[in-house]
Amino acid sequence: MRAADHLTLRPATPDDAGLLAAWDEEPHVIACVTDDPEATSASKGDDLSAELADQSDIFRYLIAEVDGRPIGAMLDIDPAREPYGYWAPIGDGFRALDIWIGEADALGRGYGTRMMTLALDACFARPEVQAVLIDPLTSNVDAHRFYRRLGFRPAERRLFNDENDCLVHRLDRADWAASRASVA
Ligand SMILES: CC(C)(COP(=O)(O)OP(=O)(O)OC[C@H]1O[C@@H](n2cnc3c(N)ncnc32)[C@H](O)[C@@H]1OP(=O)(O)O)[C@@H](O)C(=O)NCCC(=O)NCCS
Repeated sequence: MRAADHLTLRPATPDDAGLLAAWDEEPHVIACVTDDPEATSASKGDDLSAELADQSDIFRYLIAEVDGRPIGAMLDIDPAREPYGYWAPIGDGFRALDIWIGEADALGRGYGTRMMTLALDACFARPEVQAVLIDPLTSNVDAHRFYRRLGFRPAERRLFNDENDCLVHRLDRADWAASRASVA
């Protein structure tokens, strides 16, 4: 019998800029950031190299590797302090996550669930965190199903940056404790 894949999450470094930029061109990644059918990149023109060089506890990229092969990424954010004011107005006690599997052949194999489980455990290991937020497009119903299986609940429909129609979901500490055993 084949041994189980070993999945790890590691902090991204400036050397990951090319990898992240390549994933931004993947159609399934583009589809999760915009409803524009003409879009050809998921990049919003942010300076990725600068972001990777200036990471902190407030705004950090993580890279998921399966048996040493990078397959996807996450963002782990303190929404009250992140520099773009994306989540404002918001108080303390939250983390915000984003997740995308870049390698198309790694979709739908349970890796996303394992990535979220690792990241959520890290979020709730911080005693001050009461809830974790995510902002899937309202149209991304596959992702809604994925998040709800992890215990997230829809919280608010919100237009971000005057263009992205999102259905914000939140996972409260008690709900994560309740669903943790079933996704482990
Ligand atoms: C969402 C995502 C991280 C889930 O990771 P995964 O490893 O594919 O998912 P798992 O195998 O753990 O779980 C499967 C579930 O993921 C969701 N999913 C699968 N492919 C997906 C895709 N291309 N886009 C969105 N969700 C997807 C479905 O809910 C699926 O459940 P189902 O069997 O009921 O259809 C991953 O599919 C992905 O990166 N999708 C594209 C980017 C994206 O939509 N990110 C979320 C932005 S808010």
